[in-house]
Order: sequence, then C-alpha cells, then structure tokens
Amino acid sequence: MLKRKTVLLGVTGSIAAYKAAALASALVKQHAAVDVIMTKNAMEFITPLTFEHLTHRKVHTDTFDRGGPEEVSHIALAERADLAIIAPATANVCAKLAHGLADDMLTSTLLACRCPRLIAPAMNTNMLENPVTQDNLETLRHYGWTVIPPASGLLACGAVGPGKLPEPETLLRYVLRELALPHDLMGKKVLVTAGPTQEPLDPVRYLTNRSSGKMGYALARMAMLRGAEVTLVSGETALEPPPFVETVPVRTAEEMFRAVEARFEEADLIVMAAAVADFTPEEVAENKIKKKDGGLTLTLRRTKDILQYLGAHRRPGQVVVGFAMESENLLENAGAKLEKKNVDMICANDVKQPGAGFQVDTNVLTLITREDTRQLPLLSKEEAALAVLDRALALAGEKQA
Ligand code: CTP
Repeated sequence: MLKRKTVLLGVTGSIAAYKAAALASALVKQHAAVDVIMTKNAMEFITPLTFEHLTHRKVHTDTFDRGGPEEVSHIALAERADLAIIAPATANVCAKLAHGLADDMLTSTLLACRCPRLIAPAMNTNMLENPVTQDNLETLRHYGWTVIPPASGLLACGAVGPGKLPEPETLLRYVLRELALPHDLMGKKVLVTAGPTQEPLDPVRYLTNRSSGKMGYALARMAMLRGAEVTLVSGETALEPPPFVETVPVRTAEEMFRAVEARFEEADLIVMAAAVADFTPEEVAENKIKKKDGGLTLTLRRTKDILQYLGAHRRPGQVVVGFAMESENLLENAGAKLEKKNVDMICANDVKQPGAGFQVDTNVLTLITREDTRQLPLLSKEEAALAVLDRALALAGEKQA
C-alpha cells in the first residue's frame, strides 16, 4: 500500500529502538522507500547496519559526514519524504522538536519537513507524565504533529505505566492512514453496517445467517484510509475492528436499527452492508427450550427494514447505499430494491456466483443507480469497497452540483 512513497524514519536513543527495525521492515514490505536517520544515542542501542540491511539504503547519522557528492543533505531528505515518523522518540527529541532546535541531522531534517509528521514518544512514565513533556507534546500537536499515544505496561526501567513504544504493527497503521490512499473523503462522515444479526430464541440459541462481515469491514477500512470519519455498526463477527474506526457492536436487528437511527442523521454517506434478519422470533423463551416429542413450531415476526427507514427519513444531500444478495433475477430484484427503499445505489451480488457473497475474500458486484448499471469484475473485497466508495462519492458530487 506504500508503493512510490518515501518514509523518513527517525530513531532516537531509547531501549525501544529495536522495535524501529521491525517498523522499517514492515514499511519495506509495503513497498515504501525508507530513509532512516539515527541519532548518536540511538546508535548506542542498535547499529545502522541493521537498518541498512532492512531498507537497502544508506542510513543517515548525526555525524554530518562528508561522504562525497552522493551524500544526501538534510534538506534533500526532508523534500523527498512523503511522511516522517520518529519512533521511538525520547523526551529530549520531543523537547527539541517542540522548540525548533536543529542541532543534529534528525532535528535539522525534521525542521525542514513539510510532509505529515508522526511522533511516537517512548520513555519512563514519570518522564512522560512530567508537565514539561506533556506541554512539549501539546506544542508538537499545535504545530501539526500527530502524537502516537504511548502504550501502557511493564517498562524496561521496571516501572509499570504508560510510556511503551506501541508495537510496530500499530505504528504501521498510523503510517498507512496517512499515506495509503488519497484523502478524497476527508471531512465526510461515513456510517457502515456489517455482519449478521442474531435473533435469540432462548438464552442459548439464535437465528442468524452466514455473513462474515468482510465486505462491510473492508468498506469501513477503505473509507477510513480515504480520510473519512467512519462509524461501523457491526453484528457479531470474527473480525478485528478496523483501526481508527468507531465500532459499535450490536446483536439483533432491533439493536442495529437503534444504533443506526441514533447516528445516521449526521452521516454524509450510509452503506448498509449488514445481512439483517428479516424475521425474528415472536417470543424469546426465558429459559432454554427443552426437547419434547414431536416437532417445534416457531412463530416469527418481521423486523424493521433499516434501509427502508433510512430511505424514508434521509435528509437532502445524504447518499444512501444498500446491498442486495440475490439467488435469481439479480438485476430485476436488486433494481426493485432501489425504488422500494428510495436509495441511491444498490450493490447487488449473486449468492450462487463463485467468488461472490458470504465468507469469501472476493466479490462480484453490480452497482445499480438510477443513472446506470455497472458490472464490476471479480475483485478482492477491498477493491470492491473502493469501487463502491468511488461511485458513492460521484453520486454525492452530483447531488451537490
Ligand atoms: N436490510 C435492512 N433491514 C432489514 C433487511 C435488510 O436494512 N431488516 C438491508 C440490507 O442491509 C441490505 C438491503 O436491505 O442493504 C437488502 O437486503 P436483502 O435482505 O437482500 O433484501 P430484502 O429487502 O430483505 O428483500 P428480500 O428478502 O426480498 O430479498
């Protein structure tokens, strides 16, 4: 996701410096070019050689070495960086950067950077909580830095509390949020629903469906990477909540309805990717239903149709998108839902088509709007999500025009 991007990684003198090597490796795996600058103190903990092998690039140190014409200046490093991240950042480097000091290669380069800048402070809890450090971090935020909150736990110094460098995987997420995709949904609020609902029969049983939630989670994650403020209302799934997304867990169709109803007014785009139960048991038994001879008849009643509710209560300018899973007459049935539910787009998929629908990592969608019908090829759910968002963004633009 970081092809053709250059990341400047600053490493300072903290015991957590070894984790920066894993971050450098993770960035390279995402195809980023990684320029590493190490402070003198960082080299007490880890050697430049480690980073040179991982990044296949010369590591820049604080020695201001004059290695000939191929030597890259701090200005050139700053100019070619698409993003700078300092991980780990000591209290000392936070203080210097907050006040514009530029007395070594790292701080001079950072002072010249105009790209997004992230800083991951890592230090003893008392040093972190010292008001002077907190003021410095606040100052950095004021100057546009993103301060990555330190993790809590047992620190190398023996103390327990905040101050740990977050895991490289977490740091990578911050980089991806900034760089992976253009932020064309910046300033937009996106509400996505995902997963199955569970309709209880008794304290141990429920009616549900085979939805894995993968399509909705991909939509939420891609919208987040495109800069949107995303809320994901999710039925129970085995998936990890996407980072930087407000995830609201629900179980039943009724709970999903209430969660969506409470949040949809402020949303600019709503995508109902959840597989909401159409029926729920008329009564939920208080105790476990015991087996008896003969059959068991369940009486079900209709749930509220959330998408239809949204179509009826939408405000002008909102874009409302639904999904349709069909097993026959795909276009006809899905097209009818567009009208019946008063929505802007229906993303239809054929449950019988290989590679489409529940539980797989791919999908074959047909995007149906009032303007046209567009058949997408077999795509990963992430790619399909991007195509849905592209079309939704175009519809939002048409509404504004
Ligand atoms: N949906 C909803 N609330 C429900 C049922 C469905 O909001 N109670 C939404 C789904 O999230 C999806 C769309 O409606 O975006 C289509 O759902 P689907 O179950 O395919 O269609 P139905 O309207 O239920 O019609 P049918 O059962 O006839 O296929």
